[in-house]
Amino acid sequence: MDVGYKPQVGASAPGKVIIFGEHFVVYNNQAIVAAINRRCFGRADFIKNLGVQIASSLERNYNPQTARDAAATIDVRSNTELLEPLTIFCKNILGEYAPEIGIKIFIKSELAVGVGLGSSAASCVTLAGILKSIIRHSSSKEISSIDRQWIYEKALDGEQMIHNKSSGVDCYVSTYGGLVHFAGPTRTRTIENQPLPLFLINTHRRHETSELVSHVRRFRGNKSKRFNALMNEATAICSSGIKAIAKGSLEEIGLLMTENHKLLREIGVSNSEIEKIIGICVRCGSLGAKITGAGGGGSILVLARPETIPVLNAAIEGLDLCSESIEIANKGLIID
Ligand code: PMV
Repeated sequence: MDVGYKPQVGASAPGKVIIFGEHFVVYNNQAIVAAINRRCFGRADFIKNLGVQIASSLERNYNPQTARDAAATIDVRSNTELLEPLTIFCKNILGEYAPEIGIKIFIKSELAVGVGLGSSAASCVTLAGILKSIIRHSSSKEISSIDRQWIYEKALDGEQMIHNKSSGVDCYVSTYGGLVHFAGPTRTRTIENQPLPLFLINTHRRHETSELVSHVRRFRGNKSKRFNALMNEATAICSSGIKAIAKGSLEEIGLLMTENHKLLREIGVSNSEIEKIIGICVRCGSLGAKITGAGGGGSILVLARPETIPVLNAAIEGLDLCSESIEIANKGLIID
């Protein structure tokens, strides 16, 4: 079918870790967030039927036996839950901008769903990137700043469909990449990227971001004075975090991460399992450890000197857990 477009369009976008400021960022506080070297990949082919079909290898390859070991594992239920809104998201865009074509998009991801690594945002950014590339009739891999802004805004609409209320931080860093000081639409900026020895521990407990965000909203409603005080503390942590990153002081960054975690514990997004793991991280000599993302399970972000890691892994082995090293990804959305 000759539709005058490129025969195939591919894109990929990174997941993220929040180093400081999750949850409070939903109420317009600042956050420091990094794109990571784990990505969502998508590829679109033109088909005869109009509209959008989305397929995912994750659904087909799912095997409960190996689920625990696969970095990109998600369960069939969560995948269907994610694919449905993603399909509606794509249909809305295509219906508005290119109703005369039909595409089948295949996505695969290195990001497990519901573990705080921004998998839904990375999926929305990847899909919005593919759609933009199709709509603009260009085979260029370059993405102009206007197009990138469009992709960010569309991806944010998609993420809102999945998570109801979203700060936009995940979509922003997935679109633009790097280490970002997120402080609202006009004050957000990329921070000069210092290599940080970051590690993730996946608790293997999936969370529902929208439920945790609702839980925090109730906390805020019931204890508004205390919540405002915690917001101020979170702001102070972010401001100190910026300075510590600029100085390259790993000790300070780590201490601030652990302080940030205490705020998250107070607003009720931690649990005994997470506290146990964070206690082990600190006792094993990690510089800092905290929930990253919505909490309630998901991933724990650890800042540690590499020599600490064998000790840490030995200590968490009994819990059937292991840490994995991650790096900050400078590239956000890529069209290929
Ligand atoms: O757990 P994730 O990857 O969905 O991250 C959620 C981050 C929150 O701050 C809790 C919500 C938001 O929209 O910023």
